[in-house]
Amino acid sequence: VSGSRAGKSSGIASYNTANILLTKDSRVKTSPIWLAWRETLADDLRELTSTQRSWLHSIGWQAGRGNIALLPADNGSQFAGAILGMGDNPGKHTPKRDSMLAAKLAKELPAGAYEFTRIPGENPQLAGVFWLLASYKFSRYLQKTGNQKKHLRLPDDCDIKAAVQIAEAVMLGRDLINTPAIDMGPEELAAAACKLANAHLAEMDVLGDSDLLAREFPLLHTVGRASDRPPRLIDLRWGKEDAPKVTLVGKGICFDTGGLNLKPGNAMLLMKKDMGGAAAVLSLGKMIMDAKLPVRLRILIPAADNNVSGNSFRPGDVITSRCGISVEIGNTDAEGRLVLADALSLADEEKPDYLINMATLTGAARVAVGAEISPFFTDNDKLARKIEKSSRKVLDPVWRLPLWKPYRTHLNSQIADLNNVSSDSFAGSISAALFLQRFVRNAKHFVHFDIYGWVPSARPGFPKGGEPQAARTLFAMLQKQFQANE
Ligand code: BES
Ligand code: MN
Ligand code: ZN
Repeated sequence: VSGSRAGKSSGIASYNTANILLTKDSRVKTSPIWLAWRETLADDLRELTSTQRSWLHSIGWQAGRGNIALLPADNGSQFAGAILGMGDNPGKHTPKRDSMLAAKLAKELPAGAYEFTRIPGENPQLAGVFWLLASYKFSRYLQKTGNQKKHLRLPDDCDIKAAVQIAEAVMLGRDLINTPAIDMGPEELAAAACKLANAHLAEMDVLGDSDLLAREFPLLHTVGRASDRPPRLIDLRWGKEDAPKVTLVGKGICFDTGGLNLKPGNAMLLMKKDMGGAAAVLSLGKMIMDAKLPVRLRILIPAADNNVSGNSFRPGDVITSRCGISVEIGNTDAEGRLVLADALSLADEEKPDYLINMATLTGAARVAVGAEISPFFTDNDKLARKIEKSSRKVLDPVWRLPLWKPYRTHLNSQIADLNNVSSDSFAGSISAALFLQRFVRNAKHFVHFDIYGWVPSARPGFPKGGEPQAARTLFAMLQKQFQANE
């Protein structure tokens, strides 16, 4: 993914992500995109000529949602614009998801420059984000990639720079997840975080193998020690020291074999994405720093491989964590909560205002809500409502699940303070969240997201592959909270 660049002079900005562009440059000649609803069809198409209307009729086009038709000029020699079917009458259904149709257009329209006569979803910035997200292609290992430029001109009052920054942050997250484990170990993940830190003049520490023992991150070290790529603790800090403290913690398991409780082949296949939480917090961190939110940001990533080796940790082992809680290992495949526990303890020591954890933590979360929705956990009802509201606004779906206290007993151990797996076979995502919560004592607000980190089959704007889910939602929530003009 190429970086953004400022456009020509005179305050007209033009931004380029891959080959899809947003612009406000009035000198760019654009083809119109008309929106047409079933019930207002005649009125929606009134600017068309009768020849164009009979063309639409003759090709059998109907105003079903997402149906795109290309229109010739009357003399047939030129492309005159596109029609986007919107389905039923506006207002009949929630129009909000319509922004996503911009992604469908970006994918299907021929190369060229376009302009909406009316913005689908009525949120130009969000339509811009989806237009850009559709352009993503993971091309690191491909010999050649296409380059068809597709411009979208957005209205003058739209902040296209912000749209590009959000889309590029998502693409950073996608790139990190899509990169196979062979090229995305703890060291490479740390290098990616360093690159982001450098671009924003953030402070950065990476604790290596021996530091982790010396500085007391026993759970992270125990999980990561079986790999010849030693574990790391990535610690990025940015912003004014006296600003509200927002700390993001992301699970950075670069490959999850399951450890001695080895995963079967099909369950292991996608486990390069087990650093999806790390990718999501880096993506979110980039959005926060690009927007210069007035917060003191900290990003903590426990990075490790969960490997099989002679020195692997074992089922039945007991390890005392950073904060003193002893943990019996019921299953070496529940490694995410172990590495996160030590990172959460460190985060919690400075009493952050917001402590946000993101992780591809459990298969059970997928059983509960599938791949598209990110379950989240918090005891703070007000914050939960803010997150839900932001999620609806930016079309990045989340769903709250309960931190159900009675299930805490499912994590009891005979010989240690906690077991790392539940004695109950139900509610796996909740018991994992309750496990994490035990390591948070001082943070003002704690939120945990159990994301999938992956799009299993492509949807408009979401190509199959890595996805830093919930990052856009959290950015929208934090922006509303901390940016005066939002
Ligand atoms: N990384 C996995 C969770 C996962 C699996 C996420 C599949 C998405 C898709 C995690 O480390 C894990 O293996 N969890 C176990 C926990 C169990 C042993 C209590 C799981 O969910 O099966
Ligand atoms: Mn696992
Ligand atoms: Zn895992």
